[in-house]
Amino acid sequence: MKLTVTSLLLALLHSRSAFSAAVTAPAKVTKQVTLDIVNVEAAPDGFQRSIISANGKYPGTLITANKGDTLVVTVNNKLTDATMRRSTSMDFDGIFFTTQNAFMEGTPFVTACPIAPNASFVYTLPLGEQAGTFWYHSQLSVQYVDGLRGPLIIYDPEDPHRNLYDVDNEDTIWQVGDWWHNSTIPLLDGYVATGIVPVSDSGTFNGAGRFNGGPEVPFFVQNVQAGKRYRFRIINQSARNVFTMSVDNHDLTVIAADGVETVAHTVNEIQMFAGQRYDVVLHANQPVGNYWINAPFVGGDPTRNLNQNGTLSRAILRYAGARAVDPAGPMTDGPANPNLLLESDLRPLVPEVVPPADMNITLELVVTTGKAQWNVNGVSYLPPTTPTLVKILDGQTDQAAFNQTENTFLLPANQTVQIIFPPSEDDEAHHKKIDQDVHRRATAFHLHGNNFWLIKSNFSDVINEVNPIRRDVAPVGSAGTIVRFRTDNPGPWFFHCHIFWHMQAGLATVMVQDVDGIAAGDRPNQAWETLCPAYDALPAELQ
Ligand SMILES: *[C@@H]1O[C@H](CO)[C@@H](O)[C@H](O)[C@H]1NC(C)=O
Ligand SMILES: *[C@@H]1O[C@H](CO)[C@@H](O)[C@H](O)[C@H]1NC(C)=O
Ligand SMILES: *[C@@H]1O[C@H](CO)[C@@H](O)[C@H](O)[C@H]1NC(C)=O
Ligand SMILES: *[C@@H]1O[C@H](CO)[C@@H](O)[C@H](O)[C@H]1NC(C)=O
Ligand SMILES: *[C@@H]1O[C@H](CO)[C@@H](O)[C@H](O)[C@H]1NC(C)=O
Ligand SMILES: *[C@@H]1O[C@H](CO)[C@@H](O)[C@H](O)[C@H]1NC(C)=O
Ligand SMILES: *[C@@H]1O[C@H](CO)[C@@H](O)[C@H](O)[C@H]1NC(C)=O
Ligand SMILES: *[C@@H]1O[C@H](CO)[C@@H](O)[C@H](O)[C@H]1NC(C)=O
Repeated sequence: MKLTVTSLLLALLHSRSAFSAAVTAPAKVTKQVTLDIVNVEAAPDGFQRSIISANGKYPGTLITANKGDTLVVTVNNKLTDATMRRSTSMDFDGIFFTTQNAFMEGTPFVTACPIAPNASFVYTLPLGEQAGTFWYHSQLSVQYVDGLRGPLIIYDPEDPHRNLYDVDNEDTIWQVGDWWHNSTIPLLDGYVATGIVPVSDSGTFNGAGRFNGGPEVPFFVQNVQAGKRYRFRIINQSARNVFTMSVDNHDLTVIAADGVETVAHTVNEIQMFAGQRYDVVLHANQPVGNYWINAPFVGGDPTRNLNQNGTLSRAILRYAGARAVDPAGPMTDGPANPNLLLESDLRPLVPEVVPPADMNITLELVVTTGKAQWNVNGVSYLPPTTPTLVKILDGQTDQAAFNQTENTFLLPANQTVQIIFPPSEDDEAHHKKIDQDVHRRATAFHLHGNNFWLIKSNFSDVINEVNPIRRDVAPVGSAGTIVRFRTDNPGPWFFHCHIFWHMQAGLATVMVQDVDGIAAGDRPNQAWETLCPAYDALPAELQ
């Protein structure tokens, strides 16, 4: 290669802006990861119980990769505890699959059958152009409530926001989640009997939490150095609760939402819904000391669970040189005058033309009073025995192949589909009787297979067809939400509420993009073919 002055300069510039000091991006590699799914005793909030974990940890082992790498994740199901589901299935949340590998996608009864106890499955994930903050969790029923959740970070060596921060590593990930003392089989039985979503005992911040009257479990400490700018990757691993994030005396500059870069936007409080991720930059520009990171949550009527105290959900930002003590200030729920992030204020970093809608689909979400049942357009989703993908590959491509309860929409290829969640004024009336909180307030829809454009946020009246962000989870509430996506990725993609209690109660649909394209695709591998027969042969208690 001939080195010109210009190419040298470009290389120098590049090395300054690149994540590592390398002149060129690292070679794309195939990275092997093993997740042993095991029951272990753990006490994240001081209450000891058996949990389901990835490699014995809560949250599970961190998975990292660089943009363009391929992850090969071997999931070994070693579950034994009968108070929780013993089969499992992994969702790599926000990672897109295609018609070539939809069978690797791990959505039970849509793209695969669950993995039986003592069996393994190897998920191969070519990461393509995706980069950012993602996570993995069990997608089987509400199993992730028992602890099977962990982070998945894809670093972009050429991150366009690289000049905005100095530090971004495995110590700058914030995982918030809700936590229950009981295991999911009795919790789900209670939900089915009463229609009341189990109220969590606590919230955890990177796996540490407290409940009223419980031991003073040390709060998670985030160490920083004065003067440095940190990229924190906040993942809401909640199965129900809404957390509101803030750091005393510090601003948060949002630079990405659900793995899609946004124009940098500074706020001091962020409300995150289940499944959502925000990447923020925090400048450690305050006097050396200890500061509260507030992550209070709401989720259900706290009088139904006296352990719950959202204010105890927090962590500590500790400057180098500060004493190892709790911050002196009071534990608040956030700034007195919050500059709250409104997702409708976010703009995509890379502008794109949003195509007009070719078709509309209206989804009315209604909960049945007193029952653990949610309906989409009057139908409560029930997973079929034969997964959607299996049927399609077997040539069943007519609407008639899908029972009404499969809520399956067959969408033509290469169309722009607009999903309208209409406003509803009767939220309160519907929900107050069965639970003090408004269920729909915490409803958040998550699309597999594609990002959607957020045309209308629940938090704004504006219909934005010009420069909306793209993401994969958005809250759906009484003010109405509109999203739009292209059917340019053939596959049967689950589109469901990320409050997994609601999903389990039927708040789900399947968006099948280009059914004929899928049917004409390659057969999945032999390992996948064995999942359904093995699962179907299990006695019910091992499923
Ligand atoms: C799994 O393997 C262990 C050890 O071989 C055995 O004790 C257990 O019964 C097996 N579990 C199932 C569900 O087959
Ligand atoms: C879990 O639920 C069962 C059934 O309601 C109950 O008997 C048990 O005491 C609960 N355990 C805990 C730790 O709450
Ligand atoms: C996580 O999502 C839940 C459910 O939507 C929400 O209650 C909670 O506030 C969210 N957490 C954060 C940190 O925003
Ligand atoms: C929650 O915890 C805070 C901090 O310890 C305490 O001040 C408050 O009284 C608790 N709330 C309840 C309802 O116990
Ligand atoms: C979709 O709905 C919007 C809003 O009601 C309407 O303006 C538009 O014409 C509809 N598009 C199609 C293709 O029906
Ligand atoms: C098929 O749908 C009907 C309602 O249309 C429902 O009653 C029935 O249980 C469903 N069958 C299966 C196997 O899910
Ligand atoms: C959809 O668009 C892609 C890319 O332009 C093209 O390859 C494919 O054939 C189209 N599919 C159909 C069914 O038109
Ligand atoms: C939707 O917006 C309305 C009106 O601002 C608000 O009352 C409701 O809590 C919001 N719902 C969600 C899910 O954010």
